[in-house]
Amino acid sequence: MTARDALDGAVPALAAAGCETPELDAELLVADALGVERAALFTDPDAPVPGAVARVIGERVRRRVAREPVAYILGRKGFRHIDLAVDPRVLIPRPETELLVEVALDLPAGAQVHEVGTGSGAVALALLHERPDLTVSASDSSPSAVEVARANADRLGLPLAVEETAGLPSARYDLVLANLPYVREDEWAGLQPEITRYEPRDALVAGPDGLDAICALVEEAPPGIRVALEHAPGQTNAVRGLLSAAETRRDLAGRERVTVGRVP
Ligand SMILES: C[S@@+](CC[C@H](N)C(=O)[O-])C[C@H]1O[C@@H](n2cnc3c(N)ncnc32)[C@H](O)[C@@H]1O
Repeated sequence: MTARDALDGAVPALAAAGCETPELDAELLVADALGVERAALFTDPDAPVPGAVARVIGERVRRRVAREPVAYILGRKGFRHIDLAVDPRVLIPRPETELLVEVALDLPAGAQVHEVGTGSGAVALALLHERPDLTVSASDSSPSAVEVARANADRLGLPLAVEETAGLPSARYDLVLANLPYVREDEWAGLQPEITRYEPRDALVAGPDGLDAICALVEEAPPGIRVALEHAPGQTNAVRGLLSAAETRRDLAGRERVTVGRVP
C-alpha cells in the first residue's frame, strides 16, 4: 500500500459516513500515522505504508466513520500558535474562540487576566504564550478539564495556575475572559454527531436560552470589572444588555461572537 492508496481508500468511506471534509480528514489521519507533514502525501504519494501503519490508518478511519472528531483521534488541536492535547474530557477549541485571545493582546504589561471555563486551557495558554508579560490564571468547574489544562500547561512549559471552581475566583483582575457554555437545550439534539456523541454536553449547553452560565458569571462578578464573553451570534443583544459600555466583535466568518464590556 502507498500513501495515495491509503487516501483513496479513506476518502470515499469518510464521505459516505457524512464527514464534511473527507479529503482533509483523510490527509490529517494518514499523514499523522505516517509521521509526515500533510504536504509530503502529495510530494511523495508513492511512499510505501508499512503494514503496522496501515492498521493504524484503518482503525483511525473506522473511528472517523463513526464521526469521532479528528482532534480526538489525533489527541491534539492547534490553536493560534500552540498545540493542545485534547480528549473527550474537554471541548475541542474552536477557531472563533481565538477572538478572546485577541481582546487581551493589547493589555499593558503586568495586567492580570483570568479565564473562566478554560477547558483544555486553550485561551489562557495561547495568551500566555504570546504575552508572557501578562499574569494569566484560569479556572474550570470540571475536575477533568482542570487536569487536561494543567497537563497542557506543563507540556508547553507555560506558568498557568488552574483552579477547580465554578464561577470567578475572587481576586483583582484587569480582564476576565470566558467562553462558557452557550448552546440552548433545544439545540443540542440537532448538532452534528461529532459534538453530540463525543464532546462533553456540560461544556456546551446552558439552559433554555443558552445564557445560564453567562448570566451567572455576570451576576457574581464585582461591579466595574471588564469582561470579554464569547456567545452565539443570536445572543448578542442579550449579552450586551448584561454589560455597560458593551462592544461586540465579529469572528472571521463575520458573525458577532465576543462582547466586551464592564459589569454594571
Ligand atoms: C465551551 S467550553 C470552553 C472551553 C475552552 N475555554 C475553549 O474555548 O476551548 C466551556 C467550559 O466551561 C466550563 N464551565 C461550565 N460552567 C462553568 C462555570 N459555572 N464555572 C466555571 N467553568 C464552567 C466547562 O467545564 C467547560 O470546560
